[in-house]
Amino acid sequence: SQNPLVLFMPSGRRGRFPVGTPVLDAARELGVYVESVCGGRGICGRCQVEVAEGQFAKHGITSSNDHISAFGPKEQRYAEKRDLKPGRRLSCSATVQGDLVIDVPADAQVNTQIVRKAADTKVFPRNPALNMCYVELEEPDMHKPLGDLDRLFAALRAEWGFGELSADPHLLPQVQAILRQGQWAVTAAVHQPDTEGPATLVALYPGLKNEAYGIACDIGSTTIALHLVSLLSGLTIASAGASNPQIRFGEDLMSRVSYVMMNPDGREGMTEAVREAINSLIGEVAETAGIDRRDILDAVFVGNPIMHHLFLGIDPTELGGAPFALAVSGAVAMPARANGLDLNEGARLYMLPCIAGHVGADAAAATLAEGPHRSDDIMLLVDVGTNAEIVLGNKDHVVAASSPTGPAFEGAEISSGQRAANGAIERVRIDPVTLEPRFKVIGIDVWSDEPGFAEKAETVGVTGICGSGIIEVVAEMFLARIASEDGVIDGALAAKSPRIIEDGRTFSYVLHEGKQTITVTQNDIRAIQLAKAALYAGIKLLMDRMGLTTVDRIGFAGAFGSFIDPKYAMVLGLIPDCDLENVKAVGNAAGTGARMALINRDYRREIERTVRRIEKVETALEAKFQDHFVAAMAMPNKEDEFPRLAK
Ligand code: FES
Repeated sequence: SQNPLVLFMPSGRRGRFPVGTPVLDAARELGVYVESVCGGRGICGRCQVEVAEGQFAKHGITSSNDHISAFGPKEQRYAEKRDLKPGRRLSCSATVQGDLVIDVPADAQVNTQIVRKAADTKVFPRNPALNMCYVELEEPDMHKPLGDLDRLFAALRAEWGFGELSADPHLLPQVQAILRQGQWAVTAAVHQPDTEGPATLVALYPGLKNEAYGIACDIGSTTIALHLVSLLSGLTIASAGASNPQIRFGEDLMSRVSYVMMNPDGREGMTEAVREAINSLIGEVAETAGIDRRDILDAVFVGNPIMHHLFLGIDPTELGGAPFALAVSGAVAMPARANGLDLNEGARLYMLPCIAGHVGADAAAATLAEGPHRSDDIMLLVDVGTNAEIVLGNKDHVVAASSPTGPAFEGAEISSGQRAANGAIERVRIDPVTLEPRFKVIGIDVWSDEPGFAEKAETVGVTGICGSGIIEVVAEMFLARIASEDGVIDGALAAKSPRIIEDGRTFSYVLHEGKQTITVTQNDIRAIQLAKAALYAGIKLLMDRMGLTTVDRIGFAGAFGSFIDPKYAMVLGLIPDCDLENVKAVGNAAGTGARMALINRDYRREIERTVRRIEKVETALEAKFQDHFVAAMAMPNKEDEFPRLAK
């Protein structure tokens, strides 16, 4: 008769195994990742699974608890000492006795204290480059003069299947003491970038070390966001952010490049500033999670090309002008200490590849997270900053470009513009008949025409308009016909409404009168038109390249994306026509991609492969860019229709 069938959920992988096979071995054979630190000795508890009963009949298999072995001595001992949740089994000890459906819990996780602190619960399949491997090795023997480290490697090869092994040099003077302290039982932190590839011993602990962490960090030009992740569970356990201290050298990217060009120590100063900020964020997350920063063993970084270069200590001058040559575009891997990071001495660092001179490792990470390259339908991914990074495509073909949107979307270059902070107008509606506005201010929970607003405005203040507010007010002015398709404020309306005022040779719209008068000037509208035309023209070039007239889904990455209302983005023609329900803010997709690469080395290979096949389009070199740009100056567009918006 046939061997029992074993099905692993949620991956759906299945195979037949002889009665008596440990469930962990079956998982391994099918490529289902189940954590194990102790190598199947029943002491780490990392290999927990659940038997799913009955409910998987649709997979052609039902299982029951009789189909898995009863607790053996190892499991019994673990359950008594360490409290194994009901239904949970140690897959290293439990064996296959009949057809089985096995649930690999997302949180295959024993440190409940950490789970409670989890900053988020989004879980991705794990297959970390850094693994904790417990081994017991032979004591030294005068007749077998094999070194302590060599016997450790032999044990790691025999029990954990490693091939080529080496040790981080800093460990050499420590190995003997640690082995003796652990009485020949130690946990090795082994870094193996490729499954089956060469591996490096990066840290060594006496006895069982049931803990290992990594950090994932997105270095933005404005803010740095850092996550602390348990490498054993894949969960993010703390997050922190800070402004990028390089701001004092220049607000935007280009001014930072000029700073480097003008100042002999400019590059060094900026590299130090960003590394210092990252080290202090690491201290912050470690403290929040109550862990020792020395237990952080792996680190993944993403950032736009200039942030990428400055963090790595590379002069970004070449990125300041055509041909925008990257010093290195492929993924970068090195010891973290070589880049000035204060982590475990043996910790590793991995930086995602850059897509092009203007499209960085952050866009690569966002691509990894949102998966246009895995998608059947056409997905457009946009990250709007002072440069918009744009990725478009599906599983057959992906193209990418950046477009010089300038800082208008962030509130710069706008007369009353400000960063999204308390006091900033973030939502605007204009009555098309009376031309009277109502608006919502960050930090005030009611709209401007609702009771209590005036009082609250006294304390919070109404200080300016942030990026999302600007998009809305310009779109509403267009919808109320205060501004024409070409973006010109209609001066004739000044006779009808006190909101329209003469302002030199042009007109302005008065949005709010208070301690500060907030107006939208003709120049403000112009600045938004230029920014949105640049974004749209960049998208359009990519659509041309793909031979597309429409896209199926749009993802807005980054902070700007989380605040703007897709409807207004489309009214203004920032993005092409698309079903509104398919336009979504995807949050900090770059940070998510960095976390994915941290906990699964397959994701690193996936994005490296993908970036190699992404077709890069340099907007500055495309003749059509100018035509698309001019058409896109109009609201929403001179040439393109937005049929789905009309609905
Ligand atoms: Fe450690 Fe099963 S692998 S308890």
